[in-house]
Amino acid sequence: MGIRELYEASKQHALFRHFDRLNNDQKLEFEKNLDEIATKNAPETLLQDCQKAIELSSANSDETDAIEPLPNTSYGTCVGNPELEEEYRDLGLQEVHNGRVAVVLMAGGQGTRLGSSQPKGCYDIGLPSKKSLFQIQAEKLICLQKLAKSPHPIPWYIMTSKPTRGPTEQFFQENNYFGLAPSQIVFFNQGTLPAFDLEGKQLLLESPTQLVESPDGNGGLYRAIRDNGILDDLVARKIKHIHMYCVDNVLVKLADPVFIGYALKNGFELATKAVPKRDAAESVGLIVSKNGAPSVVEYSEISKKMAEATDKNGLLKFRAANIVNHYYSVDLLQRELGSWCTSMPYHIAKKKIAVYDNSADSIYKPTEANGIKLEQFIFDVFPKMDMNKFGCLEVDRTAEFSPLKNAPGTANDNPETSRVAYLELGTKWLKAAGAEVGSKSLVEVPGTLSYGGESLERYKGQAFSEQLSILH
Ligand code: UD1
Repeated sequence: MGIRELYEASKQHALFRHFDRLNNDQKLEFEKNLDEIATKNAPETLLQDCQKAIELSSANSDETDAIEPLPNTSYGTCVGNPELEEEYRDLGLQEVHNGRVAVVLMAGGQGTRLGSSQPKGCYDIGLPSKKSLFQIQAEKLICLQKLAKSPHPIPWYIMTSKPTRGPTEQFFQENNYFGLAPSQIVFFNQGTLPAFDLEGKQLLLESPTQLVESPDGNGGLYRAIRDNGILDDLVARKIKHIHMYCVDNVLVKLADPVFIGYALKNGFELATKAVPKRDAAESVGLIVSKNGAPSVVEYSEISKKMAEATDKNGLLKFRAANIVNHYYSVDLLQRELGSWCTSMPYHIAKKKIAVYDNSADSIYKPTEANGIKLEQFIFDVFPKMDMNKFGCLEVDRTAEFSPLKNAPGTANDNPETSRVAYLELGTKWLKAAGAEVGSKSLVEVPGTLSYGGESLERYKGQAFSEQLSILH
């Protein structure tokens, strides 16, 4: 069957309304592009997946399933328990020291809410140093390597997507990899999927020769790890533990030894971090037990009733907010990655999508959502875990979570809130170390000087009275 017939067999005749107007080169290019997409996913399968995702989105499963907060055996914290924290940290540091820990960053999102054309990691949140999120994260790695006295550089696997790959790699090159060894950084791409009309029946054109395609969601990580040889690389490097996180959190603790130690000590093969949810409306997934298995109910799919439910103390009943910091043992990935890759559901996101209208031969830019993008969610593998192999560590929001989601000037989770959260945390560390910081002063503590508040004793008694300064 020719490529056109293949698509037409799935009722995609409309894609070819302009075909006869194309010149030979364009025809060939269009067919080549369609073929590439069909090789990854047959059109019929794509359309079926989209229909399933539409059904899933209207299923309101949080009203039919047995959803409860996680059991205490899978929910822990060391906030307020310094001895426990130290025990976990020592365990984790030893693993870093022995070269058994790697970090995986998900940086394939297009950051549409932030409204920047660059990858999010390149964003300057307005710190006095003007450091980008990527630099802040790189410096944490450098600091941790020193702290763990590790002879082994910590491998940093960075997942990008078609739109973010080029500018991300270029940014790292231009900045000399922020002081890291280029060989410890591995870029790899996640996949893309075509977009659909709102009924999920018609694929959309971006140009006369291309379909609209977009990254396949952060759940595409698993396929990307398999298909780009990342798992093989991890095994070859003798890595045992992975810390996986999102690019947008300025407070993220890369390869956090406390988290690694928490998972190790408790025998968890998959673990995640949570913070108490800010309020019922916060756009965060909720980590729960669903029909007895660990699960995340995403904010885009939660019912109002569940989001607002309270417990007997008047607190939100479901308050373990997902901050997308995951721990995986490499053993688990070796056993399960293959089956995860083929069994994750798709979710729909209704979006405004600029499309090529091949009847009018023009680009149509909608003012309201006109199409569906399909995404997989990274946490959709959680329910495949036995509860006793899954743990959730509650951490202090002010020390670990301030995501950059929205454009400047919005109410929350924007560059200004990220900037303030970073500065306030460093200032708090300095004060705890005995520095005299003025009540209106904020100090930027570079990641190279302190990973989590340690090593600042030499600033004891030093005065910081300027409104804004950088620690040297
Ligand atoms: C995500 C979580 C949500 C959590 C919130 C906390 C998922 C599916 N949702 O939501 O439960 O409470 O963060 O901040 O994990 N990304 C890719 N490829 C893609 C799409 C996204 O790599 O195709 C990356 C982004 O670069 C980013 C991360 O995934 O690092 C999160 O993406 P984003 O779309 O911002 O997630 P949220 O909707 O905020």
